Amino acid sequence: MTIDYFEDLLRKPSLFKSEKKLDNNYVPKKLLHREKELSLLSQLFLELITNPNSLSRKILIVGKTGIGKTATIKLFGEMLINAAAKRSGLIKYVHINCRKERTSYKVLIKIVRALNNNFPKRGYSPQDLLEIIVDIVNNQNLHLLIVLDELSYLINNGGDLIYSLTRINDDLFNSQQHLSIIGIARDISCLSNLDISTMSTLQRNIIHFEKYNREQLYDILEYRAEISLKENVISDKLIESISELVYQSGDIRYGLNLLWKATKIAENQNLKYITMECIRLANQDIVPFSAIDILNYMPIQKGILLLAIITALKKSGRIQISVLEITNSYLIICENLGIHPRSHSQLWNYLQEFKREYLITMEIKSEAIKGRKALISIQDISISKFEEILVNILQTKGIKI
Ligand SMILES: Nc1ncnc2c1ncn2[C@@H]1O[C@H](COP(=O)(O)OP(=O)(O)OP(=O)(O)O)[C@@H](O)[C@H]1O
Ligand SMILES: [Mg+2]
Repeated sequence: MTIDYFEDLLRKPSLFKSEKKLDNNYVPKKLLHREKELSLLSQLFLELITNPNSLSRKILIVGKTGIGKTATIKLFGEMLINAAAKRSGLIKYVHINCRKERTSYKVLIKIVRALNNNFPKRGYSPQDLLEIIVDIVNNQNLHLLIVLDELSYLINNGGDLIYSLTRINDDLFNSQQHLSIIGIARDISCLSNLDISTMSTLQRNIIHFEKYNREQLYDILEYRAEISLKENVISDKLIESISELVYQSGDIRYGLNLLWKATKIAENQNLKYITMECIRLANQDIVPFSAIDILNYMPIQKGILLLAIITALKKSGRIQISVLEITNSYLIICENLGIHPRSHSQLWNYLQEFKREYLITMEIKSEAIKGRKALISIQDISISKFEEILVNILQTKGIKI
């Protein structure tokens, strides 16, 4: 009998409440920790709501990858349109990704078609298209906000377009302003290819988006988990672990991918919730080759201590374990192998080295009575995978495990 994979999968209870809400392109209703930027943008555009077509804004948004530039501007666009509509002003928002629309022509045709869906795709020059845009906005008396996202892809071959767009109202002195522009880029170096006047126009209004800190990453990932996963599918502690993994790059996209993959892995293993091992496995694709290199050149005793950590972690089923648990596990392995164990201070030195080599993380907890306690965890690499690689290496060095 053939297996009906779809029926089989559909019978399994899903851990997702709404899987699409973990998608990178999903714009959530709430953008935590971007309130300051949204408020600043609102102040800049307020005049257009109270007094339609009274001014033209040209703004550049700059910031590292995956920190909510696109999402913030899209959410802002929605707010702006709604606010204008309530007061009978007409604002149109067109979001263009210049990585996809790389030439001036493609950008312009995209704008025209956003204004008039039936417009033919061919047969016009960029100059024609510019004039058509100006005509439409004037005739319909609307204000057009053009967002040029990933601007650096366009600037190399679209400098003229940006010049024309930023100047479109200049010919008409004291007249109504029908066009605003928001450019989005990772850094301002992309501006250097522009002519000086365009550069200075954009440079005057730069909004820098800062990277999120650890607490902010946690809040954001917790919120995204809350809207996309069922209750109790992920613990706060694990969200903290994901935030820690994301912190270095600061890229929320990476965190969302990890969250999605870990949930899929948990579902595949018929678990009711995500475990640290699911996150490790999800993160496996990104196992640093440098880690394997370090293992290859590791002295045998140090390798055995690492194996003891892995064994103890697996046995405990917890995310973190104490040094005492590690030592006990280490002594058992040494006894089984007939190897003389190293001293406590030597083991402590090895732990410090593991930390520097990013193989483990160590959290020092103060406890009122017992003093300080170090808790060890392995976050970046799947434990099973790690164990497999390590055992292989130790075996090639003559250790019979
Ligand atoms: N404050 C936030 N709250 C909730 N989700 C967020 C927040 N900031 C970013 N995200 C989410 O993170 C993902 C990446 O954000 P976004 O696409 O806006 O990044 P970006 O800064 O435009 O990156 P790039 O420069 O690579 O285009 C999106 O799914 C977005 O919804
Ligand atoms: Mg973006």
